[in-house]
Amino acid sequence: MPQIIAWTIFLFLLGGYNISASPQDLQGDPKNGNRIYEQHCIRCHGPKGDGNGEEGQYLVVKPANFHSVQSSTKTNADLFITIKYGVVFSPMHGWGDRLKDQEIMDVIGYIRFLAPFRALTSHQKTPH
Ligand code: HEC
Repeated sequence: MPQIIAWTIFLFLLGGYNISASPQDLQGDPKNGNRIYEQHCIRCHGPKGDGNGEEGQYLVVKPANFHSVQSSTKTNADLFITIKYGVVFSPMHGWGDRLKDQEIMDVIGYIRFLAPFRALTSHQKTPH
């Protein structure tokens, strides 16, 4: 009997945790992210994530190169907001209407696989 109560409390906490989970808490699955990336993102951001996709070359605003210092030092939360809501006045529109939060995390997982996150060193933090 006490076990049942413990499980009920555990499941209750688990449920509550899920409801309050913020994007940073979600873990991405790079394998699924790879699939999403090839379907939606590769045409602009390119197979290597360097912004050299087939369509990217025709754009005035060039697709982000995920290997650049500027991109690779952004946190997952930063990338999440950009992917979900897009960049104003840019071909990078928001994907929130097509991708679920978990799918956005998956694709971030794949982007981080292509171009790993780099922590800023103190001299990079100073404005340029
Ligand atoms: C039509 C071309 C196009 C497609 C398709 C596209 N992007 Fe982008 N993306 C861009 C452009 C252009 C920028 C740069 C925007 C700017 O700097 O103003 C960008 C920027 C970004 C950034 C911001 C990087 C940074 O350093 O802030 C992320 C993250 C990103 N794209 C992810 C994705 C993902 C994930 C997909 C697929 C779901 C995708 N993009 C599909 C063109 C595209």
